[in-house]
Order: sequence, then structure tokens, then C-alpha cells
Amino acid sequence: MVELALPKNSKIGKGKAWPLSASVGAASVGAGKSGRTKTFKVYRYSPDDGENPTWDSYTVDLDDCGPMILDALLKIKNEVDPTIAFRRSCREGVCGSCAMNIGGQNTLACTKGIDEFKGGTITISPLPHLPVVRDLVPDLSNFYAQYAAIEPWLHTTSPTPEKEWRQSEQDRDKLDGLYECILCASCSTSCPSYWWNGDKYLGPAVLLQAYRWLIDSRDEATGERLDELEDPFRLYRCHTIMNCTNVCPKGLNPAKAIAEVKKMLVERVI
Ligand code: SF4
Ligand code: FES
Repeated sequence: MVELALPKNSKIGKGKAWPLSASVGAASVGAGKSGRTKTFKVYRYSPDDGENPTWDSYTVDLDDCGPMILDALLKIKNEVDPTIAFRRSCREGVCGSCAMNIGGQNTLACTKGIDEFKGGTITISPLPHLPVVRDLVPDLSNFYAQYAAIEPWLHTTSPTPEKEWRQSEQDRDKLDGLYECILCASCSTSCPSYWWNGDKYLGPAVLLQAYRWLIDSRDEATGERLDELEDPFRLYRCHTIMNCTNVCPKGLNPAKAIAEVKKMLVERVI
């Protein structure tokens, strides 16, 4: 279930249907050779105009568009409606900035193919249950503050080695499945526990990152890190719903990482 964080007392209005492949300021030019088109129903909201959010529809000629959802959004922004706002940077699934809800599921716009969706319309909205800054841009301030709170860097008390902190191959392997996280927030914002307690529960992404430092053989603050996590809300609001693992666009398993943290807490009292 996707629920958008709407401005107070507002309802989503119908919005504008933009003509097929119309260039900015030019007339509609129609579909390409194959006649393949797709309509993108996009959540639009601006805090500046005092208006309710709307669903605007943009029909795109797929013969004249790249294969990914981000290609369509860029085409819409460049050629049809320059006012539409969304985040993107790398265009290859490594920066995490283009995360949004596409066709009812959180994912990355740059790695999601338009052809993966059947039917004529694809709905695109911001990551759910976060305040919306504008259009498809969510406010991630709380998410980043939670990430900062786990102190995501190496903590050591031993004298700093002359060259580098060394690690065996086996210990390095333990970071696989964790270091690849791009902090896109798709998992956290698909988690009902995070929707309802996001101010206190750290959520799957931050807990996966917390485990990444707990399991790092070079880190010397394991006890302190576990102390910080041992809390009915920060960690134990995870009820193994598994939405996080199901949506992660990098194929990671935050639910397993959270289970490992819980296991470490049990093991240290036995
Ligand atoms: S675990 Fe996956 S979904 Fe969650 S923030 Fe990292 S990359 Fe994104
Ligand atoms: S633009 Fe970087 S992950 Fe999509």
C-alpha cells in the first residue's frame, strides 16, 4: 500500500493531461513509426502555489525515448514540461538519488525499464510516507540524520598503523551484501514499521548500514554500537515484514542484516 505524505487538508486533484510528444512551446507532433506510446501519470506538488497536489499525465512516443523510466522523465522535463522536479545523477544505479515509487513499488528510475510495465499507463510518485519537497522530491532529512546517528565510519582505539588497517580476505568477504547499499531509501520507505515510527525506528537501510560497521573486523566499537541499537524502537520495531528485501533495487537483504544484529545482541548476553 502506498500512501503519500500530503500537505495538510489537501486531496490529490486530477491535474493536466499533456499532449503527446509536444516540444516546449510547440504543437503536438504525434507518435513515431511504430505508434508505441506510454502515458506517465506523475504526482505534482509545489509548496509555493498553495494548491493541492495533482496527477499530471504525459504521453511519450517510445520510438523517440530511451528505454528507462528516467529517460522518459528526462524527455518530459526537456521537451514537454520543464517545471517537473526529480532527483537524478549517475543514471546507472550507483548514486541512489532517483529512487521513487513507480507502478506502486519503490525502485530506481534509472534502472527500471519502461517495458517492464504492461498496460498503457505508469504511475510515478515520490517515495511514500516522507514529506514532499516538490513533485517527486522527498525530504530525506530524517533519513540522513538517522544514518549519521549510527556513526558510519571506522571506530578504533588501537594505535593507527603506519600504512593501513589490514583485513583478511575472509573478513573482507563479510562486507559483501552490505557495502553495495547506495542509501536510496527504497527499503525504509516501503516498510510499514518505518511509516508509522520513522521518527524512532531506524529502518532497514540504516540498520543494514549499522550491521556493516558491526561486522567489520577492523572496527573496535562493537559493544558501544550494540548498546546504541538495543532499544525497543530503534531496532526492535522490525517485525520481519520483508518489504525491504523485496524492493531493494540492488538485490540486498536488509531483513537478514537486521536479524544478524538481533542475533549479536542475544549472543552477547549468553
Ligand atoms: S538496502 Fe537496498 S533499498 Fe535499502 S537503501 Fe540500500 S540499496 Fe536502497
Ligand atoms: S540516477 Fe543514480 S541511482 Fe538512478
